[in-house]
Amino acid sequence: MEEKQILCVGLVVLDIINVVDKYPEEDTDRRCLSQRWQRGGNASNSCTVLSLLGARCAFMGSLAPGHVADFVLDDLRQHSVDLRYAVLQTEGSIPTSTVIVNEASGSRTILHAYRNLPDVSAKDFEKVDLTRFKWIHIEGRNASEQVKMLQRIDQYNAKQPQAQRVRVSVEIEKPREELFQLFSYGEVVFVSKDVAKHLGFQSAAEALRGLYSRVRKGATLVCAWAEEGADALGPDGQLLHSDAFPPPRVVDTLGAGDTFNASVIFSLSKGNSMQEALRFGCQVAGRKCGLQGFEGIV
Ligand code: ADP
Ligand code: FRU
Repeated sequence: MEEKQILCVGLVVLDIINVVDKYPEEDTDRRCLSQRWQRGGNASNSCTVLSLLGARCAFMGSLAPGHVADFVLDDLRQHSVDLRYAVLQTEGSIPTSTVIVNEASGSRTILHAYRNLPDVSAKDFEKVDLTRFKWIHIEGRNASEQVKMLQRIDQYNAKQPQAQRVRVSVEIEKPREELFQLFSYGEVVFVSKDVAKHLGFQSAAEALRGLYSRVRKGATLVCAWAEEGADALGPDGQLLHSDAFPPPRVVDTLGAGDTFNASVIFSLSKGNSMQEALRFGCQVAGRKCGLQGFEGIV
C-alpha cells in the first residue's frame, strides 16, 4: 500500500513579492531589486515545504477560475501536491497579497486583498476519504465550519485502531476570537507569536503556560518566536525549547512560520519526538530565512 498522505486545509493566495534594499517611505518613488509572483497562503506554503521534504501531501482550499488560479495550480502541480480535494468555487477570486520583502533585514510586510472567495465548508470536507491520510493540518479560518471537520475526524478516529488513526494539528495564527475555539482540537496546536502577544504574553514560554489549559487532554501546544526559536508544552508539563538556526544572512522571512509548521508535522509524522521535531522545524525555517522563496530548504 502507498504511504499515506498529509493533508493541509486552508488558503492558497498569490503573493506579489517586491524585494527592496530599504523599506520605502510613503509617497516616494523607488525601484525594487526584483519582483516575483509566488504561490502563498499558509496551508499552501506548508504543502510546498512538505513536498520539498519528500512527503506525499494534498491541499484542500478554495480555488476560482482565472489567470491567478492557473498560476497557483500550475505551481501546486509542479510540487506534486494532490489537488483532488481543492474546491472550485463559483464566486469570488483567489486572494492576492502585495508583499514587500526587505532584503537587508528579511522582514516581510503583507497587504492582503480578500476577493470574496468562500472558504471550504464542513460539507466539502465530508467528501474527504480519511483513510488516505496519516495527518491532517487545519489552518484556522472559518472556525465554526472547521470545528465540524475536526469532529468528523474525531468520530472516525474513535472507530480505528491506534495505528490507523489520523493525526491532527491546528494553527491559530490570527488574533481573532472566533479562532480560539480551535485550541481544543488536535494533537498539536500551533499558536503564533501574534496571537500570544495579543493575549498579553511576552514570550513563547509564558504563552504556553498561560494557554495550555485551553488544549485538549494529551495535546501539545507549540509557539514559534522568530529569532528566539520555538517552544512546546505537552501533557507531561515539561517545557521544550529549540533555539533558532539563523542563516548566514536573513533575506526573506515570508512563510517562515509555515515552513516551521510543515517541518514539525513532517518530523512528528515520521515518529520523532516533539523535541526533535522542534529542532528540525527551526533548522528548516532558519534555512528558509536565508533564501528568497522555498527552493533550497533541503
Ligand atoms: P512567521 O512570522 O512567518 O509566522 P515566526 O516568526 O513564528 O514565523 O518564525 C517561525 C520560525 O522561523 C522560528 O521558530 C524560527 O525557527 C524561524 N525564524 C523566523 N525568523 C527567523 C530569523 N530572523 N532568524 C532565524 N530563524 C528565524
Ligand atoms: C505567509 C502567508 C503568505 C500570504 C499570507 C496570508 O505566511 O501565507 O504567503 O500572503 O501569509 O495570510
